[in-house]
Amino acid sequence: MTEEIKNWFKGKKLRFLVTGAAGFVGTNLALRLLELGQSVTGIDSFITGRISNIEHINNFARENGKTDGFKFIKGDLNDAELCKKAAENIDYVFHEAAIASVPWSLKEPHLFHSNNDAAFFNILNASRLSTVKRFIYASSSAVYGTNSNMPSVEDNIGEPLSVYGAAKLTNEIYAKAFFNSFGFESVGFRYFNIYGKFQDPYSAYAAVIPIWVKKILSNERFIINGDGTTTRDFCYIDDIVDINLLAVMREVEKSAGVYNAGSGKSVSLNALVQTLKGFFGNDISYDYGPFRDGDIKYSEADITKAERELGFNPKFSLKEGLEQSLRYYKTLIL
Ligand SMILES: NC(=O)c1ccc[n+]([C@@H]2O[C@H](COP(=O)([O-])OP(=O)(O)OC[C@H]3O[C@@H](n4cnc5c(N)ncnc54)[C@H](O)[C@@H]3O)[C@@H](O)[C@H]2O)c1
Repeated sequence: MTEEIKNWFKGKKLRFLVTGAAGFVGTNLALRLLELGQSVTGIDSFITGRISNIEHINNFARENGKTDGFKFIKGDLNDAELCKKAAENIDYVFHEAAIASVPWSLKEPHLFHSNNDAAFFNILNASRLSTVKRFIYASSSAVYGTNSNMPSVEDNIGEPLSVYGAAKLTNEIYAKAFFNSFGFESVGFRYFNIYGKFQDPYSAYAAVIPIWVKKILSNERFIINGDGTTTRDFCYIDDIVDINLLAVMREVEKSAGVYNAGSGKSVSLNALVQTLKGFFGNDISYDYGPFRDGDIKYSEADITKAERELGFNPKFSLKEGLEQSLRYYKTLIL
């Protein structure tokens, strides 16, 4: 964490609502906010989130004398009344709750309409009606869809390729409409591929790094979907927490801005395997499988806008981020 972030939060006690607090990004955000001495309310339905993450946040708060700083609500954002209660007396919302999977959205689209769209609308509207100064939310690189120009630039999107992508695009449209209609400020982050501590390796829809690392640590073979030339922009979680905090700190012109949030570099899956070999040796075993429906083939964020307007400066190389992540997965899996 930069000195600038530490200094900005020093002496302040702002009230944050973190939705999806039992999930990967939400847990990391809640922990960092507590570390910075802020007051955090977390909410999660546990549809994919883990109770152990909430226990970890509670333990962290207890061990660091911040028990007053964290409150948790178990509940579903599909409940509009609950959203109103959760948003009461909150200064900033980090909306991370959603089901985070492209392939799952093709199997059960209705789940994505409720948890990724209707739930988003409920918490956005509750925040507008409450004391919330800025609504900061997770969009996704999936909104680029059919636009395969690399690197992806914010103003140049295609049509969504999945129900997941459609839901995220709808979120952005609502956020813009709420600014244009009500002057309600928001910042949307189009996350690319985030990885790191507290990312679930056990779900059937787990992301590529946790799946592969879990298989390697369990001495199992993993599958590369496609021929390995597929590229992804992998960004370590601490950099993603930083960009969210910058969205609170910056006096951005009142708006409903959307920013790419990634490392700004793309890596092929074959290159990711090589980096993992640097940690585990050459005898890790894998097979090539079919390319997954709904996925985009190449992905790389242009982060110029976030650098220029928010002062975003991702710090972790893939090797450094993986080193941190492996430390976590070794305690979880071995
Ligand atoms: N992790 C990534 O690489 C990535 C990439 C692009 C976008 N995103 C987006 O970032 C956000 C956070 O992703 P993540 O990786 O932490 O996912 P995650 O699955 O680890 O966490 C999401 C959390 O939201 C909760 N949730 C879902 N629907 C809910 C509802 N209706 N009410 C209350 N809680 C609900 C889940 O139980 C879970 O704990 C999501 O919006 C995701 O779509 C993530």
